[in-house]
Amino acid sequence: MSGQVRLDRDGEIAIITIDNPPVNATSQAVRAGILEALGGIGDARAVVLTAAGRTFVAGADIKEFANAPLEPHLPEVVLALAGCDVPVIAVLHGTTLGGGLELALGCHMRVAMPGTKLGLPEVSLGIIPGAGGTQLLPPLAGLERALEMITGAERVGAAQALEDGIVDAISDESDPRSAGLAAARQVLETGLPDRGAGKLDGRHPDDPVFGKMAAQLEKSARGQIAPQKAIEAVRRSLDLPLAEGMAAERALFQDCRKGPQRGALVHLFFAERAATKLKDGPEPRSFDTVGVIGAGTMGAGIAMACAAAGYETVIVDRDQAALDRALTRISGSHDRAVQRGKMDAAQAEAIAGRLRIATSYDALSGAGLVVEAVFESMEVKHAVFRELDRVLPEGAILATNTSSLDIDEIGSVTARGADVVGLHFFSPAHVMKLVEVVRAKGTSEEALSTAMAFSRRIRKVPVPVGMVPGFVGNRMLFHYGREAESLLEEGATPAQVDRVLRDYGMAMGVFAVRDLSGNDVGLAVRKEWRAHYPHHPFPEVIDAVVAEGRTGQKAGKGYFDYREGDRTPHDSAEVAAIIEAVAARRGITRRKIDDDEIRDRCVLALVNEGARLIGSGAARSAGDVDVVYRYGYGFPAWRGGPMYDADQRGLAEVLARTREFHDRLGPWWEPAPLLVDLAEAGRSFTG
Ligand code: 3HC
Ligand code: NAI
Repeated sequence: MSGQVRLDRDGEIAIITIDNPPVNATSQAVRAGILEALGGIGDARAVVLTAAGRTFVAGADIKEFANAPLEPHLPEVVLALAGCDVPVIAVLHGTTLGGGLELALGCHMRVAMPGTKLGLPEVSLGIIPGAGGTQLLPPLAGLERALEMITGAERVGAAQALEDGIVDAISDESDPRSAGLAAARQVLETGLPDRGAGKLDGRHPDDPVFGKMAAQLEKSARGQIAPQKAIEAVRRSLDLPLAEGMAAERALFQDCRKGPQRGALVHLFFAERAATKLKDGPEPRSFDTVGVIGAGTMGAGIAMACAAAGYETVIVDRDQAALDRALTRISGSHDRAVQRGKMDAAQAEAIAGRLRIATSYDALSGAGLVVEAVFESMEVKHAVFRELDRVLPEGAILATNTSSLDIDEIGSVTARGADVVGLHFFSPAHVMKLVEVVRAKGTSEEALSTAMAFSRRIRKVPVPVGMVPGFVGNRMLFHYGREAESLLEEGATPAQVDRVLRDYGMAMGVFAVRDLSGNDVGLAVRKEWRAHYPHHPFPEVIDAVVAEGRTGQKAGKGYFDYREGDRTPHDSAEVAAIIEAVAARRGITRRKIDDDEIRDRCVLALVNEGARLIGSGAARSAGDVDVVYRYGYGFPAWRGGPMYDADQRGLAEVLARTREFHDRLGPWWEPAPLLVDLAEAGRSFTG
């Protein structure tokens, strides 16, 4: 038998143990091993299927998807388990995902250890369950729940799985093997559990739920192929016997596997894991108490994330009213989470119990890390960092959430520059996953490693970046927005630009985003950028839009008009006139601009700047840039990120288009040296 699967006996019970670290993925050796083990159970009267290490099977081996799968295929193994003459009992622990759950669904009974998480996350990798998940889950969980779980890549805990009917019991034995043996003995005594009447009685393939779900996903999973294919696969389960249904599912799985979205999403899966780890980084420091300075928009959100992750969290603000407002906001957010069933009341209470407020810095004397989120002013930050230097214990990390100030300069008023680091969160900070972990010149490796570990613990996606204006994300965003605005002067309309970007897959168009975050704020940021590019021509539409009081949604008018109580953008005749006047004043003859040019100028502006950031070392890799853009800026995950998407197009073509823009539009478009080098060498950013 392969080294990755073992077979042994305990009396009448055969035990098959999968052992393929780190996550027991269903490699070819595992698949073959299970079949061989099933063939070797002899006169056993029951079989336990379990796995060694920290988890049952976490899925198919994602690295194998790019190649044609080797035999035996997973559906064959699932069918062999289902067809076994004696009862097969799967014992689930850790994370039982994808092909792992499918193996379990093929068995005759499932027992979960407490703390197990399970689900079919395939659509988040651009594929669908390909080994029976879409056929075997609906009869257990019911049509609606199965569709929800599969199309939403939902992971559920053991208690929820029991309630949904996906597992038959939660074991109180100490380990999976004992749990399996106990369950098998019970089955031998009293038979398999009776699941009662089928949950699919009376349901048929033209059930209206399929159409409803498909329409819903057109909106919530816009542009994604796999969730729609998954619905089709589930539909087939209603009119085909298992083996044929699985064959139909497999064909849909193969369509997805060979399609472009799988590659993009798998790239992001591995890019995220690489981005959030430091290679050979020193051991992070550990601590239980965190401080947050500033109880404003960002501070409240950051504090919420810290307390939710189990940190004792102290919020300090000089203004008692701001602290009170922060607590009210936090409890309001918790109440809504409880109402929506995302959290139970006891959890909300426990989180609130870990939050303290104070107007004095002395409350921070036990903090191992502090995140400063006060006004964006060097003077104010200096005042805060002097206080932090005074009260914090030795070894504490001093982090700043600044978006534009020099972090070395912020830390210069302390005697511990090596412990100063940037933690750039995104708004709303308790929701947005991205944190740019900014390495200032003085930041030590240990401080960086600690800041990364802390960010992971508060369930963020931390990406290390260098100390350059705008860091990685906002710097790319600046170039993207600037290009979009130039397109207005040259002849496009805000509605056209936003439509093209949404069609490309962006969560929102650039001008709708600006109207949401405030054009006055945008103009202030723009002014800072001028200082970094003194010799480049800047478009001037934003200046004129703000001058007319069109600050965005909060004013009921920005690049678009808004109606009372409605966030839908409407074209504005006034903005059209503003744009024409700006163009005329600047001597620009407006022309009709086609959609392809709009898409290329916005997206390739991201790519060229991304390449510059990688080339200069401010970003470590194209994968890091893609992760920043996916989690911070609503970039469509199924395109893999701007750098991956550029690779798919081919860097030779990307470079040619960039050069064309450079010739026509001037200095903003000078191709990044890295782009030139890679394109000319026939290489790619992510290859
Ligand atoms: N295939 C290959 N490698 C995998 C893997 C998989 N399915 N799942 C995890 N790994 C690797 C990771 O890349 C990482 O490798 P590294 O140490 O070299 O960086 C290592 O295992 C540990 O993973 P994490 O760092 O993510 O560890 P965590 O403990 O944080 O998380 C996990 C573990 C919850 C299992 C998480 O890795 C995860 O969600 N994995 C993906 C699971 C998944 O999507 N499964 C479905 C696959 S598709 C499928 O099964 C198709 C089928 O229907 C035919
Ligand atoms: P805010 O204005 O909402 O909150 C700032 C808070 O700091 C206020 O409650 C104020 O009372 C408090 N404060 C000011 N001086 C203080 C002092 N000396 N001691 C203690 N508390 C003091 O500001 P916001 O938007 O939360 O921004 C905070 C920081 O986060 C800024 O550096 C900003 O650049 C950065 N940032 C903001 C983002 C956003 O979208 N709002 C995104 C990313 C970073």
